[in-house]
Amino acid sequence: MNTPARPAPGPGVTVRVPAKVNVQLAVGGRRPDGFHGLANVFLAVGLYDEITVTPADALRVTCSGPDTHHVPLDATNLAARAATALARRHGREPDVHIHIAKDIPVAGGMAGGSADAAGALAACDALWGTGADRAELLGICAELGSDVPFSLLGGAALGRGRGELLTPLDVGGAFHWAFAVADGGLSTPAVYGECDRLREASGTGATTADLPADPDPSPALLDALRDGDPAALAAAVSNDLQPAAVSLRPSLAATLAAGTAAGALAALVSGSGPTTAFLAKDATEARTVADALLASGTCRTARVATGPAPGATVLRTG
Ligand code: C5P
Repeated sequence: MNTPARPAPGPGVTVRVPAKVNVQLAVGGRRPDGFHGLANVFLAVGLYDEITVTPADALRVTCSGPDTHHVPLDATNLAARAATALARRHGREPDVHIHIAKDIPVAGGMAGGSADAAGALAACDALWGTGADRAELLGICAELGSDVPFSLLGGAALGRGRGELLTPLDVGGAFHWAFAVADGGLSTPAVYGECDRLREASGTGATTADLPADPDPSPALLDALRDGDPAALAAAVSNDLQPAAVSLRPSLAATLAAGTAAGALAALVSGSGPTTAFLAKDATEARTVADALLASGTCRTARVATGPAPGATVLRTG
């Protein structure tokens, strides 16, 4: 299922999909279904995977780019599952070669797997001419994972429920970020599990019997996004999963400190981590922070990106 490494020339569709950072991730109590109710404020940022689908005899997945050895190339790949889900609904075989040109950190808390699923869905929809409307595609995305609908939508949005119930948000300007990419990934279920464990250990409890099922977004944060004000956004960002990510990966504390020392306006774990995100006042400062992070030796690599970025976008059909 993993050759050739590049998409075949010929008819195909290429879709570009962004990474995300969560500027607020408020985690409510664990629900009876095992998920946590969220107030999840997503901001898409300009790091992209490109998904190319071409007709093939059978479904197969290939991947290129750094870290591709961590990407599953079998039917468990979320992009393969997206193609299969769309094909099933439209009574056809998912007979495509999906190639993922990967630039989003793998298992990093930036929704790379979700981006690939949203990209494969949009690409197969265009290749097969299924004519699925946005609501149908978003519904399939929600079945695939809590973050997948946002990857399709892009921009900025508030996610309620387990993160899949989206309300697009107005953003009044560009926000400039540096990202520190750690060695290795963190498992999202493990981070949520650690969040529950820490809450139980501290005596607050971890379920919806102890904590609100549906936390609220921060009004100050939504205002800061709408105003395009990086200092106000920096004062309002929060991530309830951060203590759990740092507990599982204590070295993240040094990365966060290095970014703060370099002048970042805010430092936080991106989603479930282990990528850390640093808000800067402008693009030049973001580059300065990224260079300092790399020089600090507390991360594997550092990137800069600006948000909001557009959601899944068809780049090429042929
Ligand atoms: O929805 P997704 O497949 O991305 O979720 C992966 C895992 O993350 C879930 O199985 C669950 O353990 C955890 N999760 C959660 N609450 C959410 C989203 C994810 O507990 N709102």
